[in-house]
Amino acid sequence: MYSPEDDDMAIQKIIIAIDGYSSCGKSTTAKLVAARLGYGYIDTGAMYRAVTLYFTEKNISLTNPRDVEKALLDISISFHHNARINENEAFLNGLNVEKEIRKMYISDMVSEVSAIPEVRHAMVAQQQKMGRKKGIVMDGRDIGTRVFPDAELKIFMTADLDLRAYRRQQELMEKNQLVNFEEIKNNLMHRDEIDTTRKESPLTQAADAFLLDTSHLTVDEQVDHVVGLAQSRMLFPSVSS
Ligand code: DC
Repeated sequence: MYSPEDDDMAIQKIIIAIDGYSSCGKSTTAKLVAARLGYGYIDTGAMYRAVTLYFTEKNISLTNPRDVEKALLDISISFHHNARINENEAFLNGLNVEKEIRKMYISDMVSEVSAIPEVRHAMVAQQQKMGRKKGIVMDGRDIGTRVFPDAELKIFMTADLDLRAYRRQQELMEKNQLVNFEEIKNNLMHRDEIDTTRKESPLTQAADAFLLDTSHLTVDEQVDHVVGLAQSRMLFPSVSS
């Protein structure tokens, strides 16, 4: 572990890729890790959700690659920090869509939309741009395998399915959305199935990723674990040594 007295080492900015199943605490962990390290945080799931919202509103046919490509040209996704709640919020073509993209009708569609190769190519290119200066924590399904295969730290998160559904239900309740437990569980199973079996960059643990099962961990424990790993990855021998 680095100590400031250790003048043979210097600190570099790294990319932290956090992948894993839906609702195992990726974004909660990623946000807090980013805050502790003073890093940026990108929720790539929000980008696929914003595309899904656009396609739904504009009735874009998911089976016609040309329609999809054309629609993607009209989509601009960005994140802006909301100082009041100290969170990044997703914007689609200049409109704050943070609340809308978390609703169940988007969750029901997003895995189908994110399996479309044209959608993935467009989002991956944007994500690579967002992370090119490093100093970033990015969470998703293919960050360590496709977006940043050379990321200095890769985490693969998983948790017990019932726990994931319960946590998701609590999260939705906090947003005043009452959704039946079985409905959430079925949605998670459906998304796991599509996310892990799609042709284009399916969800899979990178060979060099650390497996983090959050079933029996508190959020603080998860964050401490990732920050500890990150700190060791940030060190490199200084030029003067
Ligand atoms: O993280 P989330 O549940 O908000 O993600 C929504 C969906 O987006 C998820 O079911 C799979 C997809 N996704 C993806 O395919 N690749 C990513 N890098 C992030 C999310």
